[in-house]
Amino acid sequence: MAYPKVTVVGAGQVGATTAFLLATKGLADVVLVDVAEGLPQGKALDMMHGRSVELFGPRVTGTNTYEETAGSDVVVMTAGLPRKPGMTRDDLLAANSAILRGVVEQAVAASPDAVLVCVTNPLDMMAYLAWKVSGLPSSRVIGMGGVLDSARFAYAISEATGTPIDDVSALVVGAHGDAMVPLPRLSLAGGQPLTEVLPPERVEDLVRRTVGGGAEVVSLLKTGSAFYAPAASVTKMVESILSDADWLLPSCVLLEGQYGIDGVYLSVPAVLGRAGVVEVPEIALTPEELAQLRASAATVAEGVASLELGG
Ligand code: LAC
Repeated sequence: MAYPKVTVVGAGQVGATTAFLLATKGLADVVLVDVAEGLPQGKALDMMHGRSVELFGPRVTGTNTYEETAGSDVVVMTAGLPRKPGMTRDDLLAANSAILRGVVEQAVAASPDAVLVCVTNPLDMMAYLAWKVSGLPSSRVIGMGGVLDSARFAYAISEATGTPIDDVSALVVGAHGDAMVPLPRLSLAGGQPLTEVLPPERVEDLVRRTVGGGAEVVSLLKTGSAFYAPAASVTKMVESILSDADWLLPSCVLLEGQYGIDGVYLSVPAVLGRAGVVEVPEIALTPEELAQLRASAATVAEGVASLELGG
């Protein structure tokens, strides 16, 4: 059987875990690329050794160059440095923008028709950078932030209320950073808005834990940042794209006037299908939620301005 082709740039924790999920779920052949000699090849071989156990059809290959990535349907960008304890995602701006510029150019030259999904931090700024550097239409450059932040909120809600995880639906929009905007009013536990299930101070506590979820993992791991939930989140987005499922997923997309925000990459609910971003339907927010989202956008715009992209 012929599978779609996905390139994963970066064979670190997030990249390799994403490759393994894409393969074991039978979603795509994966080409894992990294500058470190032997690393993508070794991880790919290790995954392929598991093939007769997990019985997955797709192939995973590792490489240090872009030739084998040619003609990919989706390119997932995970290249870059992770956070260390005490760092914010924004502290990675200079180092990771330098790394991303080079890899985006090479990956897109090899796969000009691909949909690009960016995972590198600081996410919203790197998604914008990837869009500018790639020259692709914004509908084909998407960032992974909102799915992960919403997943962390869902976990917090499920634990606090005792609601089974599959009966929780949580929504976090805005920047993938300290300015993210969890939306308790639009998050449901057992079909009820969270604001009606828990008192305001408990809701606030869950919001705090969600915003600090990534940093909590970093401080426990000490040597890197989260990768299981980030990899699961990007895999979900890639599945919606490859299978043309048109799922509505909180995704980091270019806003062009929606919510009164223009020219900023930010997570909002977006429909993802084979063409990339198929639609960005505007959900109704209260004036307070809208103000939070716009403040979040302002922090991203500030970071992007410092990238000196020259228009
Ligand atoms: C996190 C990183 C992946 O939120 O941004 O854990």
